[in-house]
Amino acid sequence: MSVILDVENMVKTFRARGQEAHAVDDVSFQVREGTTFGLVGESGSGKSTVARCALRLITPTSGTSRIDGEDLASLTRRQLREKRRAFGIVFQNPVAALNPG
Ligand SMILES: Nc1ncnc2c1ncn2[C@@H]1O[C@H](COP(=O)(O)OP(=O)(O)OP(=O)(O)O)[C@@H](O)[C@H]1O
Ligand SMILES: [Mg+2]
Repeated sequence: MSVILDVENMVKTFRARGQEAHAVDDVSFQVREGTTFGLVGESGSGKSTVARCALRLITPTSGTSRIDGEDLASLTRRQLREKRRAFGIVFQNPVAALNPG
């Protein structure tokens, strides 16, 4: 099956008040169409930051993210906004985000 999401060498460093936080340090993975991919790690290990970078909700420090072979960094803001209609993100607190019924 084809690769739908291809994340390569993703790095995100936050800088706040002179402090550097290496939230994501060189993460690469591929997700194939029709499959479920789990990213597991302790709280604060960078899972949400990887997801935000992968969908370009925030700008990575370095690294690339391709959806259907298309590098999201090559898109204009407008194109990216259009693309976002196609991929969804369900943020934490599943009870609030999903219908438990
Ligand atoms: N906007 C931000 N500014 C500064 N630091 C941040 C920011 N967002 C995340 N961080 C830091 O990046 C690191 C990774 O956070 P992240 O939220 O990605 O972890 P997580 O694996 O999703 O954790 P959890 O399981 O609690 O959801 C943490 O040290 C966090 O404090
Ligand atoms: Mg999280």
